[in-house]
Amino acid sequence: MTDRSAVPPGALVTGGARGIGHAIVVALARRGDRVVLTDVDEAAALQAAEGLRAQSLDVRARGLDVTDVEAVRAAVAEADAEDPLGTVVNNAGIGWSAPLLDVTPERFDALMAVNLRAVFFTLQAAAAAMVPRGAGSVVNLASTSGFTASTTPMVPYDTSKGAVRMLTTAAARELAPTGVRVNAVAPGTVDTALTRSLATDPGALERLTARRIPLGRLAEPGEIAEAVAYLSSPSASYVTGHVLVVDGGWLT
Ligand SMILES: NC(=O)c1ccc[n+]([C@@H]2O[C@H](COP(=O)([O-])OP(=O)(O)OC[C@H]3O[C@@H](n4cnc5c(N)ncnc54)[C@H](O)[C@@H]3O)[C@@H](O)[C@H]2O)c1
Repeated sequence: MTDRSAVPPGALVTGGARGIGHAIVVALARRGDRVVLTDVDEAAALQAAEGLRAQSLDVRARGLDVTDVEAVRAAVAEADAEDPLGTVVNNAGIGWSAPLLDVTPERFDALMAVNLRAVFFTLQAAAAAMVPRGAGSVVNLASTSGFTASTTPMVPYDTSKGAVRMLTTAAARELAPTGVRVNAVAPGTVDTALTRSLATDPGALERLTARRIPLGRLAEPGEIAEAVAYLSSPSASYVTGHVLVVDGGWLT
């Protein structure tokens, strides 16, 4: 079943101003979606959307902090009113490395607010829009860190991504009878600002690549975006509750 008309044309991506989120916006817009690019950095979101409109892509921007549940609900409802949402992507995420003994409750809560709580409430808002139509899908960004511990100490991050896997499974199970699908993509190590912020020294990424990535290179953001585009397309009409690992062999 590859009937494009089976998926409403609207799409909303969180954390879309840069990195993987930006590549997802591009991939969805190139296939013909009308995309709302949201980001906590509103100026960056506006600039990114302007750049994509200059390439004739149908992208509009909106500032959105995903930790603000009321703002998430309003953004999803407004986007859905303009173009019925067929695709919502929970991409916004934060990560840092710190020894377990140094993690404060405040930092732990701040990370979970973005990486887990916001994923749940954005999914909930998307489902509220999609369930009445019985069509659409949500794609969450998990990580190989949700399967196996990160190379540097990142217990809260790894835990949040493990939870996103289960959130995906449980939500897919509950929503399946409505026709709404829920899946996740689990990237390995992608060449983004987040990854570079975690590198301990200039040679760290090269050593990591040699040691842990069988394909011998970092992923490009566009390679993750292709997986998101597939899962949210009619080609994946029978796929729900799946976590698609895109990791260059990291987990092998
Ligand atoms: N980079 C990797 O190697 C990698 C690997 C596995 C999973 N992931 C996941 O992919 C997603 C994107 O990662 P990335 O590397 O592109 O990160 P990035 O830091 O390059 O970009 C993240 C974007 O999210 C935005 N953001 C941060 N907090 C936000 C908030 N509260 N509300 C809205 N937007 C917010 C940022 O402004 C930024 O534009 C994250 O969920 C990350 O955990 C990344």
